[in-house]
Amino acid sequence: MNRKEFLQNSAKGVALTTLLPSLAFCTSNGQQKTIQGNYQVSDNFKADVDIELTASQSELQLFSGNQTRVYSYQPKLLKGEKSSLEKLPGSYLGPVIRVQKGQKIRVRFNNQLSRESVIHWHGLHIPPEMDGHPMYAIENGEQYIYEFEVNNQPGTYWFHPHPDKITGPQVYQGLAGLFIVEDNNSDLPSGEYDVPLILQDRIFDDNNQLVYLQNNRMGQMQGFLGNRILMNGNPDTTFNVSKSTYRFRVLNGSNSRIYKMAWDDGEEVTVIGTDGGLLEKPVKKPYLMLAPGQRAEIWKDFAGQNTGTEIQLQSLAFNDGTSMGMGGGMMGRGMMGGMTQPGGVENGIAFDVAAFKVTENTGKKMELPSTLSTITPINPADAVNSANPRQFYFYNQRMQWVINGETFGMTEVAEWEKVKLNTTEIWEFINGDDGRGMGMMQDMMRMPHPVHLHGLQFQIIDRDVSGMERTVWETVKDGFMDEGWQDTFLLLPGMKVKIIMRFKDFTGLYVYHCHNLEHEDMGMMRNYEVID
Ligand code: C2O
Ligand code: CU
Repeated sequence: MNRKEFLQNSAKGVALTTLLPSLAFCTSNGQQKTIQGNYQVSDNFKADVDIELTASQSELQLFSGNQTRVYSYQPKLLKGEKSSLEKLPGSYLGPVIRVQKGQKIRVRFNNQLSRESVIHWHGLHIPPEMDGHPMYAIENGEQYIYEFEVNNQPGTYWFHPHPDKITGPQVYQGLAGLFIVEDNNSDLPSGEYDVPLILQDRIFDDNNQLVYLQNNRMGQMQGFLGNRILMNGNPDTTFNVSKSTYRFRVLNGSNSRIYKMAWDDGEEVTVIGTDGGLLEKPVKKPYLMLAPGQRAEIWKDFAGQNTGTEIQLQSLAFNDGTSMGMGGGMMGRGMMGGMTQPGGVENGIAFDVAAFKVTENTGKKMELPSTLSTITPINPADAVNSANPRQFYFYNQRMQWVINGETFGMTEVAEWEKVKLNTTEIWEFINGDDGRGMGMMQDMMRMPHPVHLHGLQFQIIDRDVSGMERTVWETVKDGFMDEGWQDTFLLLPGMKVKIIMRFKDFTGLYVYHCHNLEHEDMGMMRNYEVID
């Protein structure tokens, strides 16, 4: 009998509560903790939007010839405006869920995959049992009920699987969607001019099937890097655009690839939003660094362009400071179509991401607003540990990616990972070991780590690059967006980043981890606990 049948039986009045399967894990000191998630619709939760999402394997015509086997979330709107659920055409990705701040959302997640899964709502401030912690993963045939109120600022959030050790392959096979909290801001492009752009790199074999890591430890150490780009889950990365102003909601949904995004028409990248919503005012950058998990909202005006003009969104070459696999990132520089070929893995290579072709249609020309939102900076003096921030070292130890020397344990939480509810703290993240490591060996295993904390948005208050190689920093320095609200930031080798945040509303266990999904799967993830 699976959990669903249990619940149906209990609905018939059979007292089966005591039989409900609860998952037991041993903590490091041998104690058992019982994990009870949310498997039933709560009658007193009045959902404004009620959605069913079923994760299953399916086939999709991505190329001519064979169909491609993918995983996808099949959505069904049970309650809510039609506009709250949008499918991405010709894509395995999605859906795009569009909601308003303050709305109550219910998502009934059915797992029809062969392995366990769970949905993480990346960037949302919701209770731990709704956040998609790996301990709440459900097996094939089971259902999990997510119920939460949207209390985040309007912005571009996303969702994806988060099961322990197999997040990388599940996202890779196609499971990811956007969760947009609308701002209804009439100064910004909307409707067809408000366009999601989800960037992912993939490898396909001759039969059009996805190729993941080739069971190669070094490959997993580095993380997956593909040889072609898909945009919104579609290999066709050419977009027709009107002579109009656009708002692009860009998500780096790649497992490991970092992009250095730039336009090829010489125009700067106009950033209007980050992970946690709109900036106070637009920021112009020659290029923008976007690490896995991060979002950026970009303003682009095609209004003055001639019909037929094609503008490329590119990723420029950069040095990410990697020194994996001996000899300063020299491993397998096999180039193909401007990117690496399978087996030859490298970040930081130049290639075209997408093309925007201007049609003869005239859309709406808009003026870039000078103010977009109000962001109150969190005062470092308000942090309980302002004199002595917690430190988190991200590094490689004996072929393992670790945080302060530790890897993930399902419910394991150390003293240095416990925080108090209703406090503000500063955390410092360091890409490098704490000096007790193996010196030279550590140096040869240096990689960028996109750091992500669940359950909240934070502000970046310091990015110290004094420990970095100057030549590395020079190639990326103009692309960092430290303004605004963030939930993910890029930590390059030698870099130190201080963030500030407030722990409020919810207690319990959340994870924080490297958003290079292969690093995460290898254990570069830990729990933090908010305690009352
Ligand atoms: Cu988008 Cu824990 O991840
Ligand atoms: Cu990492």
